[in-house]
Formats: sequence, structure tokens, C-alpha cells
Amino acid sequence: MPNKTHITATINGEEMEFLCEPHQSLLEVLRETVGLMGTKEGCNNGNCGSCNVILDGVLVNSCLVLAVEIQGRSVTTIEGIASPNGLHPLQQKFIEHAALQCGYCTPGFIVASKALLDQNPDPSEQEVRAWLAGNLCRCTGYDRIVKAVLDAADV
Ligand code: FES
Ligand code: FES
Repeated sequence: MPNKTHITATINGEEMEFLCEPHQSLLEVLRETVGLMGTKEGCNNGNCGSCNVILDGVLVNSCLVLAVEIQGRSVTTIEGIASPNGLHPLQQKFIEHAALQCGYCTPGFIVASKALLDQNPDPSEQEVRAWLAGNLCRCTGYDRIVKAVLDAADV
């Protein structure tokens, strides 16, 4: 395939290689080429946060990043949040607070929350709410999610 670019990147701590076309989004390649289906496509235009991943420590919408842009870089998806020893405290607290929502929005909320706690381990409620403003749930409130994130920050 002449148009395909060979990419080497670290995904969830593991060096991976794949071929992609110049127009393909990171979201598309993660799901359809790399086989990591946890990152979800909601709007596909940068509005919902369902596709959040962490790229070199920065929270991004993977639907707005081209796959070719991750050459030599490091990506963490929802599949990389738990450790071999078990769930990340955020995942545990989402369960305890019944903050789990549908399969579309939850991975994005968890990844966004992880990016927040990585840079601000003790956020205020206002900071959590402001940070998660880029994650849309079309169905329910955000209170349980905010409580779970604040509780995880205390772990
Ligand atoms: S699918 Fe990327 S922001 Fe909605
Ligand atoms: S969009 Fe996931 S529960 Fe509402």
C-alpha cells in the first residue's frame, strides 16, 4: 500500500508498530488497526471526550489527532490505566460511587480524570468540574463522577 506510513509508538507502555494512511485519526487506528476498542467514538469532531487518550502526558481527543502524529510518542488509552496489580484508584472509586455510566462516555471520563490527577493530585471540586467540562454525558448528572474523582484523589 504506497500511501501507508509506518509508525512506531509506545502504547500503554508497550512499543508497537502499525501502518496507517495520512488521513486516519488516532481514534480510528487505535480501534481498527491496533485493536484497542476501549477508546470510544462519540461525536468524532472534538466535542464529547469519549475518545480521550493521554499523549505524552497531555489529554487529547484522539478523533482530532492524526495517527501519523504519534510517531515516536507515547499514548495511554483506557486499557493502560489499570496496573498489573489491579484497578487504578479512579476505576475503583468510580465503581464504589456508582459513577459508571454507559460504555461510550465512561472511558473518556476515566482517562480525563487520570490526566487531571497526574498534574493536580489534590483538585478542588470546582477544578474537577471545570476539567471534566470537555466530557459530555447525554443521560445523567455528573455528581457521582465528581465525587469519585475527589475520593480517588485522596487515595
Ligand atoms: S469522539 Fe472525539 S471528542 Fe467526541
Ligand atoms: S453518555 Fe454515557 S451515560 Fe450518558
